[in-house]
Amino acid sequence: MQVQSPARQRTAVVTGAGSPRGIGLATARRFAQEGWAVVVTDLNAEGVAASAQTLTDEFDVPVLGVASDVADPASVAALAEQVAASDLPPVGAVANIAGIPSPSSFLEMGIEEWNRVIAVNLTGDFLVAQAFVPQMIENGYGRVVNMSSVTAQHGGGVFSKTGYAAAKAGVIGLTKGMARELAQYGITVNAVAPGVVDTDIRVGSSDENEKALSAAVPLGRQCRPEEIAALYVWLCSADAGYITGTTQSINGGTYVY
Ligand SMILES: NC(=O)c1ccc[n+]([C@@H]2O[C@H](COP(=O)([O-])OP(=O)(O)OC[C@H]3O[C@@H](n4cnc5c(N)ncnc54)[C@H](O)[C@@H]3O)[C@@H](O)[C@H]2O)c1
Repeated sequence: MQVQSPARQRTAVVTGAGSPRGIGLATARRFAQEGWAVVVTDLNAEGVAASAQTLTDEFDVPVLGVASDVADPASVAALAEQVAASDLPPVGAVANIAGIPSPSSFLEMGIEEWNRVIAVNLTGDFLVAQAFVPQMIENGYGRVVNMSSVTAQHGGGVFSKTGYAAAKAGVIGLTKGMARELAQYGITVNAVAPGVVDTDIRVGSSDENEKALSAAVPLGRQCRPEEIAALYVWLCSADAGYITGTTQSINGGTYVY
């Protein structure tokens, strides 16, 4: 019997994968490159359809694109149903990447923005993981990687401010709690905390501001989405099976502790 690596027998669910220059598509691409089947999902239906087409054109692995809102329990349930009804291999990894920025200051932020920032950046990770972890338990292989940020570690200083810092700090607590509870099933749960990544998330940020952000990084440049993708996919590999409950800083030296 041919022994296959877990990646060849499993599906990775990647949220926030509808942005052409984003971390989500880069991560889905890296999963596919390493032989995983991939579910790409995003609030942006057109974007996710384009990402699914790109991956199908580039790789010989099963790919499913589904539009969903990670902050909406009904939408996440519909996503899980669509994945269960597909003929994809069992889900072995959830890469929570969907997120929104929040450059409003503490004194200016209204309750609606606060609720949305928490809902997408924190509740979304909870909902999507909860939808797929039972299958991981059943199938005997599971990895969850959640998206935090350096902003959670030092309270701001990049682009987004307090509301985003609170949501991304919540992701670290969510990750630690899940890691403790799911270890008994051999499922690992980690968070990734990037510094400034070269994507389109900082809507309205001027060239001057982007240059200043790069100059403030000790390594002198912004992170490439592919570098975050490599970390996500490695954390989902069999090799990373003894790493759980951690927050992996990937920030070019911006925050050293
Ligand atoms: N770019 C950075 O500097 C940076 C740094 C630290 C953390 N992050 C985090 O990385 C993640 C990806 O960011 P990015 O830079 O690739 O940005 P991006 O804007 O390119 O991608 C984010 C994606 O999330 C999607 N999305 C937004 N709300 C959603 C929802 N409710 N349901 C489903 N999808 C939704 C968007 O449509 C978009 O495609 C985010 O969680 C972000 O907070 C980014």
